[in-house]
Amino acid sequence: MAELLITGGAGFIGSNFARYWRHSYPADRVTILDALSYAGNRSNLADLSGIDLIVGDIRDTALVERLLRAREIDTLVHFAAESHVDRSISHPDLFVSTNVVGTHSLLEAARRVWIADGTGQPHRFHHISTDEVFGSLRPHDPPFSERSPYRPSSPYSASKASADHLVQAYHRTYDLQATISICSNNYGPHQFPEKLIPFFVINGLEGRPLPIYGDGLNVRDWLHVEDHCRGIDAAICLGRAGETYNIGGGQKLPNLLVVDAICASIDQAFASAPQMAQRFPKAPAAHGLPSASLRTFVPDRPGHDRHYALDCTKAEAELGYSARRDFADGLVETVHWYLNNADWWLPLRGCAEVSGPVTFPVSPG
Ligand SMILES: NC(=O)c1ccc[n+]([C@@H]2O[C@H](COP(=O)([O-])OP(=O)(O)OC[C@H]3O[C@@H](n4cnc5c(N)ncnc54)[C@H](O)[C@@H]3O)[C@@H](O)[C@H]2O)c1
Repeated sequence: MAELLITGGAGFIGSNFARYWRHSYPADRVTILDALSYAGNRSNLADLSGIDLIVGDIRDTALVERLLRAREIDTLVHFAAESHVDRSISHPDLFVSTNVVGTHSLLEAARRVWIADGTGQPHRFHHISTDEVFGSLRPHDPPFSERSPYRPSSPYSASKASADHLVQAYHRTYDLQATISICSNNYGPHQFPEKLIPFFVINGLEGRPLPIYGDGLNVRDWLHVEDHCRGIDAAICLGRAGETYNIGGGQKLPNLLVVDAICASIDQAFASAPQMAQRFPKAPAAHGLPSASLRTFVPDRPGHDRHYALDCTKAEAELGYSARRDFADGLVETVHWYLNNADWWLPLRGCAEVSGPVTFPVSPG
């Protein structure tokens, strides 16, 4: 039986992971530490019982230390972060503070409780990172492996890269039993509406422009959040301390194709359920027009990486991980989740708009 502490568990991937863990390991105790920033949402956990949500900041080292001791935590899974690339361009300091200082605060609390006390307590510190730490692939480059050099392009990816280095350093210096998983672009239910798929679904439903950066041909690998959760589970249970594992979806697509697939999925949903037109009267699909008519090309963002792809051979060989979800099916299911959960996203949309001078064109980070 494990005693889990999940940081950022009220956000998109963290809440999906809490749900996954609850169902997979019902006997384990799960505590979530989340500051409930604009991206954190209690309602993401509303269907889960037996989980304690502690509202607090990962930068509060004393709080984390207290939690680790009082709850006898042996497994810390670290999702909490500022996670949106566009926001990192307008507010880089917050990204350094949360992602670098915050990760260091967790590592330091873990070192004090798990290492410095000398109890020899078995433990695992698992850190969630991003393929963006590697920067951009050129057209004929092979996919990024765990040995690829770090070349972050944005303040977001630089802060995640810094956090990864700190995790590795705490393993090498203090023998902290740490693992890192590097994932590609996640999609699925409960994703905050600033990210590509929910942003475009919601704009399509509200008849607002679908702004596409540059030529729309930036390529991303898409990973269903359920596959990601399985991959993290495997890295925690089977991964070797000190190692990094790539967890990808194996479904590389240019942004434009993803946008077109979202539009087609909305159009199809309206065609097969005419009552949608009453719920979303501003949608072009409510008037028999294609959602793609809302597509608008806008100037590219600074430092926009062209192409990401992950080589997941190591995770396949050592963890038995491979993605199971097909993108076409997963996307339709995800679009339907947003169609059926307007109560969830309506209040958040306003929240995204007021929380900073940020525009939200296609930005998969
Ligand atoms: N979403 C993706 O496609 C993607 C891809 C690669 C890597 N990642 C990484 O996965 C992790 C989770 O991403 P996500 O998309 O779920 O992010 P998210 O923005 O949806 O959620 C982040 C959560 O962290 C919490 N948080 C922020 N600052 C905090 C602080 N100081 N203390 C405590 N909690 C805090 C927020 O309240 C929120 O609940 C992040 O580390 C991110 O870098 C995400």
